[in-house]
Parts: sequence; C-alpha cells; structure tokens
Amino acid sequence: MHQNNVVAEVKNLKVYYDMGDRTIRAVDGIDFTIREGDCFAIVGESGSGKSTLGLSLIRLCPGKVSGEIIVDGVDLMKLSDEEIRKFRCSKISIIFQEPSSALNPVMKIGEQLMEVFTVHGYSKSEAYERSVKLLKTVGIPEAEKRMQSYPHQLSGGMKQRVIIAMAIALNPRLVIADEPTSALDVTIQAQILNLLKNLTKSYGLSTILITHDMGVAAEICNRIGIMYAGKMVEVGELESIFSNPMHPYTRALMTCIPRGLKGLLKPLPGHVPDLSNPPEGCRFHPRCPYAKDVCKKEEPKPLHLDDRLVLCHRVGEI
Ligand SMILES: Nc1ncnc2c1ncn2[C@@H]1O[C@H](COP(=O)(O)OP(=O)(O)OP(=O)(O)O)[C@@H](O)[C@H]1O
Ligand code: SF4
Ligand SMILES: [Mg+2]
Repeated sequence: MHQNNVVAEVKNLKVYYDMGDRTIRAVDGIDFTIREGDCFAIVGESGSGKSTLGLSLIRLCPGKVSGEIIVDGVDLMKLSDEEIRKFRCSKISIIFQEPSSALNPVMKIGEQLMEVFTVHGYSKSEAYERSVKLLKTVGIPEAEKRMQSYPHQLSGGMKQRVIIAMAIALNPRLVIADEPTSALDVTIQAQILNLLKNLTKSYGLSTILITHDMGVAAEICNRIGIMYAGKMVEVGELESIFSNPMHPYTRALMTCIPRGLKGLLKPLPGHVPDLSNPPEGCRFHPRCPYAKDVCKKEEPKPLHLDDRLVLCHRVGEI
C-alpha cells in the first residue's frame, strides 16, 4: 500500500558508553530506513548492541548518542527533553522484554492505561472508554473487569498485552519491541507475536522487533537487519535474505539458529568481540570462515545491491 512512505530514517547513528578508562562503541555508524507498515527485525547475538540501538531511537539510552534519528520528519536528536517526552507514546513507543518491570505494581491496570490518555489531554471518561476498547483490541477478555486488576493478578502474557496496549494507545508511528516474548512461555510467545503482527497490519503501525532469534523474525517481519558488534552487516527483505543470505554472519546465524530448533543446535563458535576494543578491519573476521588478508586490515564499506545492503569485502565471491 504505502510501502514507500518513510516513517523513520536513521543516519550514521553512534552510541558510545564512556567507562572512564575505555569507550564501548555499542552502536558504531548505523543507517537504515523504516517504511509505513514495515515490521523490521533487528537480529544479532547477545552483546551486539541491539538494545542500545532500540533505546537510543527513543532517546532513552544513557550512552552518548550522535547521528540523525528522523521519525515522522522530525530529528529526535534536536528535540528538548520536554519535546521528546511528548513525542514518546504519541509518535514512538517501546515495549520491553520484562512486562512486570514496565508496570507499576501498586496501580490498577485501568489507571495506568488511562493515564497514557489523560497525560495527553483526554478527559477521564474518554480515557476510560478508549482504555476498555484497547484492552479488547489486544485480546484481554472481560476488559471492564480487568481495568480493576493489579499487575500481579495477570499472567505474564496478559501483562505483555497491557504493555502493548499502552504502547499503541496514542496511535504512534513507530513501535519498538525489544525481545517482547523472551520472558514468556513458548505458547504465549506465539500469541504475542501474532498480536504484534496483526496490530502492525490493522493499525498501519511500523514496528521494530529486536530479537536474537531468526525464527521469531521470520514469524512476523517483512524486513530484517542483521547486527554484529555495533554494525548493521546486512539489511534487506526477509524472504530475500532467507533465500539468499549474502553476509557470512547472516549465514552463520541461519545455520545455527533455524526456526524452532535452536535448543538442538550448537551456538555459533566464538563470541561477539569486546566493543571497547573491536578487531580491526571487518569486526567479524576472527570468526569468519571466508576471511582474507584485506578483511583484517580494511573495514568493509556498505554495498547496495537492489534493496540489499551488505557490509562485506567478499560479496559475490562467496
Ligand atoms: N548502560 C550501559 N553502560 C555501559 N555499557 C553498556 C550499557 N548497556 C549496554 N552496554 C554494553 O554495550 C554493548 C551492547 O549491549 P546491548 O545490551 O545493547 O546488546 P544486545 O544486543 O541488546 O544484547 P542482548 O541480546 O544480550 O540483550 C555490550 O558490550 C554491553 O555490555
Ligand atoms: S569482510 Fe571478510 S571477514 Fe568480514 S564477513 Fe566478509 S569475508 Fe568475512
Ligand atoms: Mg538487549
């Protein structure tokens, strides 16, 4: 439909954590674009910088952030604290892994949900009506009754549904979900992923789904960005990446973590490098079976092939 409408554009994003004696370069020069209706997966192993990226997009990251984050035509880097507070929820929102920590344990679900509306100028009665409707939308039975529940009276899956309701309440342009199902039972995971997928469609939302699991990405996303050691090493359409992964790291992720089988397979050998002192040249070279001399010396430049971006010296050869 509106596939070409750009919702978010990230340019040369860098996020560094200053640790005194060293600097962790958790996100180190990343570019990507999110279009209307996209569900964009960011996939990579633990420590590759995914959460840092997600948090920095909504200006909640404690690290030093530079670059451009343009959402709905506005560069978030240029907004004041007050402006960004307004922007959050109304234009861009985030869902975290652990639903309990995102809810206030001493406030009823209904009050927390209504607050999203009242803070943004809605009357109490309107906030109530919208909240009940939202709870129904996210699949919570007996919504009116549930408005009176405290978080501890809800299961993990139900809590995550409430969080999702809060995240979409004001019809934002972009929702970031950071491992939204990792803390849940497997059967509940699938339901929550399905909910996100359906909401992305029916609300015309754009979603960024952060996950370490290729299977989860394949379940609901249409585009995918593979992240390694602070870099986006491959970006493209999900189907095209699955049928023809070009970056050696993408290939490695796919053979080591195929859908539904991750428990049975051995992890990728080696580990993500120390991001305060990453390897020179291509950061993946110590683990790459295709590494040549040039890979150890020169950082690969992004190569654009149709809709694909690949960061590798040897694209086309391997
Ligand atoms: N607040 C922080 N202060 C200092 N370093 C941090 C902070 N948050 C993350 N890091 C470091 O930044 C790097 C990237 O971490 P990040 O949490 O973004 O990775 P991730 O891909 O989300 O990993 P995971 O899959 O385990 O959640 C790691 O080296 C991590 O130790
Ligand atoms: S640039 Fe070299 S080391 Fe890096 S992924 Fe490509 S082939 Fe492997
Ligand atoms: Mg993380």
